Amino acid sequence: MVRIDILTIFPEIFEGMFTHSIMKRAVHKGHAEIVLHNIRDYSSDKHKRVDDYPFGGGAGMVMMAEPIFRLIEELKSKREYDEIIYTSPDGVVLNQSLANQLSMKGNLMILCGHYKGIDERIRETLITKEISIGDYVLSGGELAAAVITDAVLRLIPGVLNDETSALTDSFQNGLLSPPVYTRPAEFRGQKVPDVLLSGNDRLIAQWRHDKAVERTLARRPDILDKE
Ligand code: ADE
Repeated sequence: MVRIDILTIFPEIFEGMFTHSIMKRAVHKGHAEIVLHNIRDYSSDKHKRVDDYPFGGGAGMVMMAEPIFRLIEELKSKREYDEIIYTSPDGVVLNQSLANQLSMKGNLMILCGHYKGIDERIRETLITKEISIGDYVLSGGELAAAVITDAVLRLIPGVLNDETSALTDSFQNGLLSPPVYTRPAEFRGQKVPDVLLSGNDRLIAQWRHDKAVERTLARRPDILDKE
């Protein structure tokens, strides 16, 4: 059971995201709990402001320390968190290995960044891990938090129906996935490789492995090098 607390100024962005398919199943089957928190509710300002101008000038607003400190401290007083994650392009880039590690944790918190960033004292004092979902800049951390949550939840044992399906994902064994086909065996003149129709499990497994290696060499030799 993984509990993920998501701290955001836009909880609406997540509406619908956890009510479908695999993420819904994870929550329904009791393997995961997702709790959304609106940072604005922790503002002591009468206008519920959560951002302010950067000291020293410059463009963009910075998320204030106080509301986020209050929210995180309240959560930490209730349970222990294995990681307090901040989504940021400065972080370690998410990969399957990190998703696997996170799926084995109990309580995770994900703070979604915004504007030009968050007051550095939050990062120094409260954040235990900064995660980027790739070398590009999003307008907010919400999509990154959703990506992390999806990648993590589907790895929790019991979440996927066919237990082996996460194990044969691209990346899970250091290889991209081989091609797959379904009926019909011939579509607009294009035939499914004979071996897949042969019924010979050993040959099929060998073909899939060969294709996985071939595809990985052609498209992502960098992940093969790490093995
Ligand atoms: N926030 C903005 N850009 C991001 C990225 N690439 N990954 C995670 N959080 C972000």
